[in-house]
Amino acid sequence: MIIAVDGPAAAGKGTIARALAKHYGFHFLDTGALYRMVGLAAIRSGGEPITATAAIAAARTLDPSSFVDADLRTEKVGAAASIVAVIPEVRAALLDFQRSFARKAPGAVLDGRDIGTVVCPDAHAKLFITASAEVRARRRQMELGASDYEAVLADIRARDARDSQRATAPLVAAQDAVTLDTSGMDIGEAVAAAVAVVEARRVP
Ligand code: CDP
Repeated sequence: MIIAVDGPAAAGKGTIARALAKHYGFHFLDTGALYRMVGLAAIRSGGEPITATAAIAAARTLDPSSFVDADLRTEKVGAAASIVAVIPEVRAALLDFQRSFARKAPGAVLDGRDIGTVVCPDAHAKLFITASAEVRARRRQMELGASDYEAVLADIRARDARDSQRATAPLVAAQDAVTLDTSGMDIGEAVAAAVAVVEARRVP
């Protein structure tokens, strides 16, 4: 069984996807981390601004199992991820790894931007997790321990625009996805709502 969890930055999809994986005893893949690894590796090998050549080489040589880096969750690396994520060759290089992960038994939960639309269009359950940009900026500010709310909000808006407007695999809800707006929900409520969606799709 494959569960696809997509949505914009800081909407709560990582927390929800992890909780779903724990609930069902499934494997979990944070696909955003793959793009973050490529963004960071491209900066380290080719400098800034990131070049397509450096990004494509980083994606083709990426070993996700060995990549651990304290800088991965920073907003700078999030922005770098969304820059390399625009490049079709980068997306293509990461596709096989994501698809084989999705086939792991007894099931897998993948979170990202294009899981329900491109990576696993046949996923059994698809969730599109969203929240207002202001709520997402507050959450990300707390997560990062950042002092400047307006700067975090501007980063989130810039990333939303880049992710939604790109030509290849843009951020969009799959036609058969259920949208959950978590703006007014706490984590427990959001996870319960997500489990209810998956239960409704499960083959008895
Ligand atoms: O955690 P957050 O939602 O801030 O970001 P992330 O999931 O770590 O993803 C970082 C960036 O990678 C996104 O802004 C996208 O540009 C890109 N990404 C993508 O294009 N496709 C995916 N399946 C996952 C992430």
